[in-house]
Amino acid sequence: MIGFGMIFDDTYRPFFEAVRRTPLYTPVTGPITVSLTAAASRTGTRVARYLDDPAASLGVFQNLSGSNAIPELLESGVRAVCVATPDDRHFGPAHAALSARKHVLIEKPSVLNLSDLDNLVALAERNDVLAKVVYHKLADPDHKKLHTLVVDQVLQHVNNGYCSLLEPKSISGGQFSEWIRGRNPGTYVAVHYLKLIDFTFGPLWSLDRISATGQRGLVGSPDGPTWDSVQLQVVYRHPDAREAAFDIHTSWVTPDNFPGYVEQEVQFRFDNGVWNAHQRKRGVELTVENRTPSELKNTPNYHYNGTFLEPWGERSQRGYGIEIIERFFREVAFVEHGGPADQRPERLRQMRSLTYNDLSADRNCVAIVQAMEAILARAAAGIPGSLVKVNGPEGGLALFEPGNAKPTILYSGRV
Ligand SMILES: NC(=O)c1ccc[n+]([C@@H]2O[C@H](COP(=O)([O-])OP(=O)(O)OC[C@H]3O[C@@H](n4cnc5c(N)ncnc54)[C@H](O)[C@@H]3O)[C@@H](O)[C@H]2O)c1
Repeated sequence: MIGFGMIFDDTYRPFFEAVRRTPLYTPVTGPITVSLTAAASRTGTRVARYLDDPAASLGVFQNLSGSNAIPELLESGVRAVCVATPDDRHFGPAHAALSARKHVLIEKPSVLNLSDLDNLVALAERNDVLAKVVYHKLADPDHKKLHTLVVDQVLQHVNNGYCSLLEPKSISGGQFSEWIRGRNPGTYVAVHYLKLIDFTFGPLWSLDRISATGQRGLVGSPDGPTWDSVQLQVVYRHPDAREAAFDIHTSWVTPDNFPGYVEQEVQFRFDNGVWNAHQRKRGVELTVENRTPSELKNTPNYHYNGTFLEPWGERSQRGYGIEIIERFFREVAFVEHGGPADQRPERLRQMRSLTYNDLSADRNCVAIVQAMEAILARAAAGIPGSLVKVNGPEGGLALFEPGNAKPTILYSGRV
């Protein structure tokens, strides 16, 4: 584990705890044990706290910190590495792990530009290992149904839609204050919806153009590089040349006591239908004196992640946020233990062809993130209103500023 922060505690920790009790099993692999053997982080403080907690159930693992932590972790005999460092620190650890021939799972957003993505995909290919990214929304039962309805042609031809994901102020002001300078909430959370859109309504369409704007002044100064909220628009072109446009609004300055904590809503409109979904208003509304809305949520999403007393008496923590981590380890188990050694290349090929999480299928999302960040950087430099054209005559990603006919090429290859 590289990075041992909030998302480790939310999803990786419950996965490792559960798999320690019950190994992964399929008829072809037999039982596969998975154990956390080492964690590398900036200071090691949280790891030490976890290891000292008498209630912690992961057993002993190495707590590595400082400049040599990642090389030490890679030399410690690990087979797979999960990268859950801040957004702009994924590439280095992932590159080191793939170079050491480890299977790698990276938190979203995988990386922030296409040349880093090309680099990691080529490295994974050369070293015969998996390189995957976590997009848990694809495992949400509602989104699985959306995907099913689209593939089965019940919902036909998406035309447009909106998504909004609003995080509370405590994220930008407390949780992420160490690394927030120069960052934006679009990269942090719009990617959830970018992948949902790209995976669910693709792969036959092509990305056409990206624009973005946002607001500053709460997290940082009004003219600085740190963004409070971002409004992103992405336009795709269907094979029949009709366009589809999506607006994705994100923020990390919503009041801490707003009922949602994380507010997530989407609407997608098709030729023959409309899909409306709310991530937390799924029917449960809870009030507990002095405990909601902060410690307990008013409208909780227990499908993502929840702690339960199962009807059969067992305590558990589960949900699609954890299931998506387990899937990665199942894929690694299948590659390494799913049949004879001489058929490993075929098993690797099969797992790489899963476009929901393979890094090679993350091109459009990374392209949009790269374009959005370049547009926001231009705005912070005093030139708002740029647009990035995808796969035009000028190159893969060409940024056009208002009043300047000559684009800046962000990526020359084809996206
Ligand atoms: N899937 C989701 O819904 C979800 C939710 C939250 C965060 N995330 C993603 O997870 C990642 C981490 O977010 P978080 O909320 O856990 O952040 P966090 O700030 O709580 O934790 C970051 C961790 O990375 C470590 N770290 C920082 N720089 C490092 C370095 N150079 N080398 C090694 N370790 C380093 C820190 O010590 C800390 O343990 C981000 O990419 C974020 O986008 C995903």
